[in-house]
Amino acid sequence: MQSKTPEKICALFNQIAPHYDQNNDIISIFTHRFIKQHVVNSIPDLPPDSQILDLCTGTGDIARLLQKRFDNAQITGADFSKEMLKIARRKHRGINFELADCLKLPFADESFDLITMSFGLRNTANYNRAMSEIKRVLKPDGIFVHLDFGKEAKFVDEIFHKIVKFIAEIQEDDSYVYLLESKNNFPPAEKLIELFAEHGLQTKLRKDYLQGIISAQYCVKTNVLHSEPDPL
Ligand SMILES: C[S@@+](CC[C@H](N)C(=O)[O-])C[C@H]1O[C@@H](n2cnc3c(N)ncnc32)[C@H](O)[C@@H]1O
Repeated sequence: MQSKTPEKICALFNQIAPHYDQNNDIISIFTHRFIKQHVVNSIPDLPPDSQILDLCTGTGDIARLLQKRFDNAQITGADFSKEMLKIARRKHRGINFELADCLKLPFADESFDLITMSFGLRNTANYNRAMSEIKRVLKPDGIFVHLDFGKEAKFVDEIFHKIVKFIAEIQEDDSYVYLLESKNNFPPAEKLIELFAEHGLQTKLRKDYLQGIISAQYCVKTNVLHSEPDPL
């Protein structure tokens, strides 16, 4: 994809939605399932009735894991792709899924105790705008958990390239070539941590998977007027 406009990104995810889960399993050789589970299990306990938002929820994997982990919380999954949400709603009943653009979130300031974003930021058209919105809707001392590629690795890129080409051939759809592009243009975990800090989100914990190829950051929205210990 030459220019990453929100319209093109949304159209791409609408197109790949029917194969998204299956392709995710193939591309990651099922590892994404275990990593997502581990990331959610590592989130600290939250008070009952907490408000949780899973951004770029896609087909709702993380929202579902959050529902199991925090059974008293109110969970919302948000995405701007109607087709991805259609699958999420079909797979996970009892979770509130909303059509929403994370560059302009339809939620009030300081609404959520926890916001998660898995393999999402990389796909947005404007990282700074997405981060400003996350900071805006997160409560003071709220937690932001981010998961995505953490660094480049030549051998993984080669395997990726082969699998993506294979998928493009058998499904006669080259949308997945975009994945390689977005992956190569995405900042490494160290730079992301700086970006989060610029938006008032201090990374308290980082968990690397597959030798750092996948990385999760657990951040807290800092409140300079408040001196309670950090929840992480
Ligand atoms: C690679 S999928 C990740 C899905 C899921 N979180 C997962 O881990 O499997 C990226 C998702 O981000 C969504 N997305 C990209 N830009 C968005 C935006 N500006 N607002 C809302 N959703 C967006 C896409 O529609 C897509 O469902």
